[in-house]
Amino acid sequence: MPNVLITGGKGQLGLELAQRFAEKVVVETTTSIDVDEVDVTNRDQVDELFRFLRPDIVVHAAAMTQVDACEENAETAFKVNALGTRWVYEASRSIGAHMCYVSTDYIFDGQADTAYTEWDTPNPASVYGKSKLAGERELGKDALIVRTSWVVGRFGHNMVKTILKLADSPGDLRFVNDQVGSPTVAGDLADKIVQLTLEKRIGVYNVTNSGQTSWYELARFVLQSAGHDPERVKAISSSELPSERKAPRPNYSVLAPTALRLSDAGVLPHWQDSIRDLVQYLTIQKGQSG
Ligand SMILES: NC(=O)c1ccc[n+]([C@@H]2O[C@H](COP(=O)([O-])OP(=O)(O)OC[C@H]3O[C@@H](n4cnc5c(N)ncnc54)[C@H](OP(=O)(O)O)[C@@H]3O)[C@@H](O)[C@H]2O)c1
Repeated sequence: MPNVLITGGKGQLGLELAQRFAEKVVVETTTSIDVDEVDVTNRDQVDELFRFLRPDIVVHAAAMTQVDACEENAETAFKVNALGTRWVYEASRSIGAHMCYVSTDYIFDGQADTAYTEWDTPNPASVYGKSKLAGERELGKDALIVRTSWVVGRFGHNMVKTILKLADSPGDLRFVNDQVGSPTVAGDLADKIVQLTLEKRIGVYNVTNSGQTSWYELARFVLQSAGHDPERVKAISSSELPSERKAPRPNYSVLAPTALRLSDAGVLPHWQDSIRDLVQYLTIQKGQSG
């Protein structure tokens, strides 16, 4: 039975992955690490950890994920997202572990009007997207790449939590209607990563919740699911957003789950079903804590 190691273990996906792997009877042990234990940019630390733990499966979810901070600190973004991935891949290879890298819709420029498949040519516009694509290119053909988008969930900071917080204050909420993508609930994504890694799959898989929406429509749906008036959400265009948002966002970044579909690996539920469940969970949790 495999031993599993998760990087980025305190992130919103890492926390879900740790629970999902730990629940599997076919998994021997699950270990999570984050930057306070092992910094993936430190080659020696990564190598030492891997030789000590000798995992069979590695899910590399650690990344510098704040897209505007990446724009301002390109060297750090590449150090973490590209070079850090090099060290994790190198260490995985040295002990024969199967590695999964979590990548992003930001590797595309967002100029398309139909969903990107796994075989479309990337063309990132932001430093974050460029550094994550550089991470993909650090990997050999024996690695698994899971590309995802608009991740939200029970843990950490994310847009659904932000929308719910804004809904509790008076006034309108303003969200863009000219950026379209697929929200992905971290629990659904984690389940699919567990499946794909246990099946020892390699190559690129797009893994997002099914369907597509704009941030405006998502905000309306979240308000409605939480029992608020969705009419409080007003549509704006990206050009009306504050100028401190340095990183360009793709206008259209829907990822088609073509590899999952054509290999009968199962696609994720529609985003509305998963977001409704998430909103319900967060609402109950808030009621219990306050
Ligand atoms: N969130 C999204 O919408 C989204 C979309 C597409 C793809 N992804 C990808 O999915 C993966 C998981 O994302 P997430 O939303 O779970 O991100 P997250 O919540 O930001 O988690 C990433 C974790 O990695 C840690 N980390 C940062 N630098 C590190 C380093 N040098 N060494 C070790 N750990 C480090 C972070 O620690 P600190 O918080 O202390 O920095 C954080 O705990 C990432 O690879 C991301 O690129 C995310």
